[in-house]
Amino acid sequence: MEIYLDNAATSHPKPECVVEAVTEALTLGNANPGRSSHTRAIRAMRMMVSAREAVAGAVGAEAEDVCFALNGTDALNEAVKGALAHGGHVVATTLEHNSVLRPIVRMLQRGQAELTLVKPGEDGTVDPEDIRRAVRADTALVVCTHASNVTGAIQPVEAIGGITREMGIPYLVDGAQALGAVPVDVKKIGCQMYAFPGHKGLLGPQGTGGLYIQHGWDIEPIRQGGTGTSSHRLTQPEERPERYESGTQNLPGLWGLNAGARYAMARLTETMRIEAELTEMLLMGLHELGAEVYAPAARRVGTVSFNMPGLTSAQVTDRLDGAGICVRGGLHCAPLCHRDLGTYERGAVRVSVGPQNQREDIEALLSALREMG
Ligand code: ALA
Repeated sequence: MEIYLDNAATSHPKPECVVEAVTEALTLGNANPGRSSHTRAIRAMRMMVSAREAVAGAVGAEAEDVCFALNGTDALNEAVKGALAHGGHVVATTLEHNSVLRPIVRMLQRGQAELTLVKPGEDGTVDPEDIRRAVRADTALVVCTHASNVTGAIQPVEAIGGITREMGIPYLVDGAQALGAVPVDVKKIGCQMYAFPGHKGLLGPQGTGGLYIQHGWDIEPIRQGGTGTSSHRLTQPEERPERYESGTQNLPGLWGLNAGARYAMARLTETMRIEAELTEMLLMGLHELGAEVYAPAARRVGTVSFNMPGLTSAQVTDRLDGAGICVRGGLHCAPLCHRDLGTYERGAVRVSVGPQNQREDIEALLSALREMG
């Protein structure tokens, strides 16, 4: 028996329609979209268009404003490096994942950027006014995660968007843990860029992701190459999405993502109900077991981190694995968040529920933890 509670890393199991779509793209749909003009290639291109409409719908954007990426990290690299092509000061939070922090720190090391970090308060959320106070005259980018991949705390991304709009500063939101778990509307958030993976809440295959870039707002493409358009020119096209999509695209992955995103969005209300119920049950159970839980926020996604008395996170995750329960320990690629929580040395055990989980999964987890006590 296997119980999968590691949906913040990647969602599992994928819906059957996703598995079928990948096979379809490798057989019926197999051709290079946007290149040749034969019937098979045109069918592949139509599949790309449909996939783009599906993911754009999931973030409340028009299809032409969403570019595909290799994963969430790739989308974040495009957003950070593209927006900071001429350098500048960045305001980010200590909740950020290394996929945000490492590209910025690389630029910092080369003297191309400066960074101010804002810490969340006791409740695990960032105060938007702290973002305002961190902004400087030369601030070129504000970055905030939509939901922490460690504590699950949903951040006040709309309030921050109000501030960045007022101050005229480009704003990037990392939607890795939020999209598919809560409603997302990039226009309400007021961000210029929203980066997301396809394989988490959107239930698509790995190797997929996307970046919303606000209409009329240009960033430098980090990759150049063939797009199947304007082939006579040696320079990258200005038009979207080709500007940001050089090379053959991952059609099997994107056609699977098309199926996953449509499936996930049709069930979002039910997913939110299931995840809220299971998270509540988990939090109560952990409290009864005397676990140290890092879960202060009132508004949260289905991700909870904790430690058991006297055990390292690695000891707990290994023992859970022995019981057939999949969770993630360690630092979750978010070292500054763990530093704030005081778990930098020990790490934490992270449980992340998905729409396929049931009460029995949480009962089995709590029972396995009880046996360790
Ligand atoms: N970013 C993913 C996680 O938090 C992989 O596990």
